[in-house]
Amino acid sequence: METKTSELGLVARVANVGKYYGEGTQRVAALDDVSIGIRRGKFTAIMGPSGSGKSTLMHLMAGLDSPTSGRVWLGDADITGLGDAELTKLRRRRIGFVFQSFNLVPTLDVMGNLQLPFALDGRKPNREEQQRIDALVKYLGLTQRVDHRPHELSGGQQQRVAIARALATSPEVIFADEPTGALDSRTSREVLLLLRSAVTESGQSIAMVTHDPVAASYADRILFLADGKIVKDTGAMTAEQISATMLNLEAAAA
Ligand SMILES: Nc1ncnc2c1ncn2[C@@H]1O[C@H](COP(=O)(O)OP(=O)(O)OP(=O)(O)O)[C@@H](O)[C@H]1O
Ligand SMILES: [Mg+2]
Repeated sequence: METKTSELGLVARVANVGKYYGEGTQRVAALDDVSIGIRRGKFTAIMGPSGSGKSTLMHLMAGLDSPTSGRVWLGDADITGLGDAELTKLRRRRIGFVFQSFNLVPTLDVMGNLQLPFALDGRKPNREEQQRIDALVKYLGLTQRVDHRPHELSGGQQQRVAIARALATSPEVIFADEPTGALDSRTSREVLLLLRSAVTESGQSIAMVTHDPVAASYADRILFLADGKIVKDTGAMTAEQISATMLNLEAAAA
């Protein structure tokens, strides 16, 4: 019997995954033989230069894309060979996702977008869930915006709606691809504190891609990618230590 993901203290896991595009000399290894797990109840940051494979890794772990080789587990479920319908069901139940592009539904207003994960499940939020949504709206400064549609919001406001939506269902694991990329430093800090408290207070698990050493300093663990491989896996570090590590990795690559 194979050890279960949950027995390893993990919420998601990949083993020897590769994602390759193109053929021959055109071949690009977006991810190259990566094995890693996302720890339960921890905040993991994923860093690395542009094109190093961060989004690819997140998409594979969240079942949004399939690997060329290797295996992927979401919780204890091996999702490597699953079809779209099954994947969609698993994703809806288990994960929240903040995309690099915000992925809001343009025809729905903010509240409609926040209630979407429930609507997709064929129901309305119950009282407790609606209270959670309202608290997120208030915390993220979106109260005046609930009946606006995405095109009427700034980039940072759209990003906050996407974050609130990912947290609305209290999923077991949240994958966030640069969730603070479009935010000013004050709003960014608020979002990071919110993510931190989702982990510390509610025991949720977060994997967050970021380019920002300050954002990564909120994490319990930092994975560094370069050229499709994980080149460093460390515990919490200060923003200064993270900057220095990034500079070293970039210098080594140059
Ligand atoms: N559909 C595709 N076809 C060909 N190459 C692709 C495709 N998608 C991604 N790649 C390549 O795979 C590599 C990793 O891409 P990925 O989006 O994972 O990088 P990233 O680390 O998220 O970068 P960024 O910080 O810019 O978002 C890049 O070299 C990219 O060009
Ligand atoms: Mg990316």
